[in-house]
Amino acid sequence: MVSILGISAFYHDSAACLVVDGEIVAAAQEERFTRLKHDHNFPLRAARYCLSEANLKAENLDYVGFYDKPLLKFDRLLETYLDYAPAGFSSFLKALPLWMKEKLWMPDLIRTELAKAGGEEDERVAKKLGKKFGWKLLFGDHHESHAASAFYPSPFEEAAILTIDGVGEWATSSIGVGKGNEITLLKELRFPDSLGLLYSAFTYYTGFKVNSGEYKMMGLAPYGEPKYVSVIKDKLLEIREDGSLKMNHEFFGYSQGLRMTNGAFDKLFGGQPRKPESRITQREMDLARSIQVITEEVMLNMTNYIHKETGLKKLCMAGGVALNCVANGRILREVPFEDIWIQPAAGDAGGALGIALAIWHRYLERPRLSSEKAGTWQSARALRNNGIPAYSDGMKGSYLGPKHTEDEIEEFLKSKQLPYKKYAREALPEGVADLLAAGKIIGLHQGRMEFGPRALGARSIIGDPRSPQMQSAMNLKIKYRESFRPFAPSVLREQVADWFELDADSPYMLLVADVAKSRRRKMTMEEESLWGIDKLNVKRSEIPAVTHVDYSARIQTVRHETNPLYWEIIEAFRLKTGCPIIVNTSFNVRGEPIVCTPEDSHRCFMRTEMDYLVLETCVLDKKEQPAFQENENWRKQFRLD
Ligand SMILES: [Fe+2]
Repeated sequence: MVSILGISAFYHDSAACLVVDGEIVAAAQEERFTRLKHDHNFPLRAARYCLSEANLKAENLDYVGFYDKPLLKFDRLLETYLDYAPAGFSSFLKALPLWMKEKLWMPDLIRTELAKAGGEEDERVAKKLGKKFGWKLLFGDHHESHAASAFYPSPFEEAAILTIDGVGEWATSSIGVGKGNEITLLKELRFPDSLGLLYSAFTYYTGFKVNSGEYKMMGLAPYGEPKYVSVIKDKLLEIREDGSLKMNHEFFGYSQGLRMTNGAFDKLFGGQPRKPESRITQREMDLARSIQVITEEVMLNMTNYIHKETGLKKLCMAGGVALNCVANGRILREVPFEDIWIQPAAGDAGGALGIALAIWHRYLERPRLSSEKAGTWQSARALRNNGIPAYSDGMKGSYLGPKHTEDEIEEFLKSKQLPYKKYAREALPEGVADLLAAGKIIGLHQGRMEFGPRALGARSIIGDPRSPQMQSAMNLKIKYRESFRPFAPSVLREQVADWFELDADSPYMLLVADVAKSRRRKMTMEEESLWGIDKLNVKRSEIPAVTHVDYSARIQTVRHETNPLYWEIIEAFRLKTGCPIIVNTSFNVRGEPIVCTPEDSHRCFMRTEMDYLVLETCVLDKKEQPAFQENENWRKQFRLD
């Protein structure tokens, strides 16, 4: 047995992943345990969890992999800061102590921290213990880790690979080819030219938090007009045929490490960046739309180029920019790849999974096998009886985190003296569907927690998508956030083509497609003439809670084999209502990491106006709960993104 622990840390979204004999056994982000969103510290608790899932101790590991190369990153910082001296030099001096203390001493630090993950609390003892560990420590290139996370768990034997993010060591995007257990990277785009950093610059300028508010800006785009596309193209960047970029760095501040944009940028777009939390104006909507148009153009150029260069039929993607599901939907529709697969933990958390798989397949040269466990391209070729192609990848639906047993849950509920109703497993789907059909908003905690930024029915808040009030009710009463953000539909895979302009799997909510024309509602002239945020309250389809203002929806397709209970709940809802779709939003309040334990779920349930909480087969009715003792000022505790 060969066990490999992959780690990503110290930038954002720390995570750990355990691969045993090529199978992904467990993966989780540190934020879920520490309750600090995007926690970038060493993933001590995530590593501890991963080891426990396989009953392993830190000393039993054979390999530990770190997802990037700190020395190369340091080299980039040094070189770019010095290039921009003296402005860059002061921020370099500020960053230096952290680098000297933590990042350059990585091997020692990883050993000590893993000794702590094994339970040793004393720093000095942990340090000594760590030195004795017999496993081998390996470092991967940042974009190679992303590429490995994109290709190895994919359902494809052979595929083109695209990685796009802000920046790793030097690369900001790479293209390559995967075949069997081999990955060959062909080309890369280098810092400071970066689609991810360009997108983040606009995220910052429109008043959202860099590295976490990007998806909000994407949600804002359909309200705006692409007014700034020509000025972006004239002044900020040159987009080349092959999808590479040449950016004009006179307008950006990030290469000096100071801020994302500078005074010249402000002047170009008519003023200071929007202050976070201040009112969103038409300018931000137009900026969001414009940068979305540019992003799509670049991603289409890149993928068309890769298609031409490699001649391959499938495409895999990873890197933070691969979470741009609007662009992904266009790639699927417009680029002549037969199929695309996107790593659900596309951001840096997924690097932990990538390096672990890269050690197994590239370093140890183990083949990708056809097996139920590892996920296979062979089985994906088979057709199921009902005509829907079978689907299988190596991610286990991304349900790779902790699960809590019925006993643990009942013990928790009893210890807190919380009233609940226990369902028989067979009766649960119908019970939940009844509540949904009655317009109730439900916190659903079941099975293993998801790996990656999306909730996929294991730690989700669910509701009825047919209700015209559901979107604003969920936004204001549960999420306490801006009401412009649409929710995502979870739809039975068997029914997706009847309701959306998509007939493919989108298990990780990473593809956007339009609501089917037959399901749309004809709008009045008056409704048509609305613009900006006023578009929000118009009922545009049979499923208004999940229909964006441009009729698009960020779709999760659900299969029985990957999440039986979730599928059965939606199926029971369909039998009752005729609608095979429910609203799915992540189980958290804004700024909070998605819940992990039954305690987290109960706390979030009590803090918000959710009506019911489902903890496996135990169902809690809000009306019956004793008053909740709040001991933290959580609205201050969670920083907004
Ligand atoms: Fe990255």
